[in-house]
Amino acid sequence: MPKRVLVAYGTKNGSTARIADAIAAVLRKDGLAADPLPARSVAATLASYDAVVVGGGLYAGRWHRDARRFLRRHRAELAARPVWLFSSGPLDASASERDIPPVPDVRRAMDRLDVREHITFGGCLEEGAKGFVARMIVRNGKGGDFRDFTAIEAWASRIGAELVDTHDQDRSSG
Ligand SMILES: Cc1cc2nc3c(=O)[nH]c(=O)nc-3n(C[C@H](O)[C@H](O)[C@H](O)COP(=O)(O)O)c2cc1C
Repeated sequence: MPKRVLVAYGTKNGSTARIADAIAAVLRKDGLAADPLPARSVAATLASYDAVVVGGGLYAGRWHRDARRFLRRHRAELAARPVWLFSSGPLDASASERDIPPVPDVRRAMDRLDVREHITFGGCLEEGAKGFVARMIVRNGKGGDFRDFTAIEAWASRIGAELVDTHDQDRSSG
């Protein structure tokens, strides 16, 4: 049985969901089972998952509320599994040019859990985004799509490689 990975995400405008889908697609290509799901609709237990990736859009320096709540709600089960976190936010090329450190919400989670890695990807804000401020940003020409799918897929491949390696080790030692 391949390892099963949950890719849970918190999104307001949908762009983080698309990142989660891309991560899940790479994991599947690597021979794992991967479910991208909105963090708010994940079942009460993570028992069927061997590893978890959690991502959230950034809003005013905070991780999306659904991603924060997900970490709280599943704290015990997450502590017993390898966890990867990602954020999606900057509306410029900065995330492709350098490491953007985690926001405090994420930093705190990293202190509590066995987080293998956190990464910040560029964000996306386009016509039709929800909220007055979002619409102002777009109207002022400060929106755009800064998601770097090459970087996203490379990060997912690293996760896949780690999980496939441990899968093989489990089999050879069992
Ligand atoms: C009101 C508002 C506040 C934002 N605050 C931040 C922020 O603090 N840091 C950041 O990097 N991006 C910020 N962004 C950009 C969003 O994180 C980006 O659009 C992201 O892709 C949204 O994810 P979603 O489409 O999944 O909701 C903000 C966008 C809006 C509309």
